[in-house]
Amino acid sequence: MATLNIVKDGDEILRKKSREVTVPDPRIDTLLDDMKETMAKAGGVGLAAVQVGKLRRVIVIDTGEEQLELINPVKIKEEGVQEEIEGCLSCPDRWGITRRPMKVEVETLDRKGKKRRVKGEGLLAKAICHEMDHLDGKLFYDDAIRMLTPEELKEYEEA
Ligand code: NI
Repeated sequence: MATLNIVKDGDEILRKKSREVTVPDPRIDTLLDDMKETMAKAGGVGLAAVQVGKLRRVIVIDTGEEQLELINPVKIKEEGVQEEIEGCLSCPDRWGITRRPMKVEVETLDRKGKKRRVKGEGLLAKAICHEMDHLDGKLFYDDAIRMLTPEELKEYEEA
């Protein structure tokens, strides 16, 4: 496994649409493993392949309680609303309040190419939506309700 560089906001690649992949593919296995290591080292909850410079519809998520690998994910259901603090490994020091569904259901492939349905609630739903936005070149602050003020940011970091 290898730790990859995380692309930062301002790099045009983050605004590009990622392409679907075909699995199984040993290169995608390696990409997923490297993304997991990179995310863990950076202390993130989720990472999309575009954030390590690869325009592929591949995502890893680790909420601490749940770990997910999403390949070519498609949202099939969403329910409810949550308004929570959100940030992004590509946008250090920027945090905002976003509006996301409370529950989502997505159809995804696993590494072997098998179709699976995954459900997420709360933090997991927020992470799934955030990472899926990356696949279409969207960043969390595009639709944020508002960004945190420097004072709020300080309080949040100290909490
Ligand atoms: Ni992000």
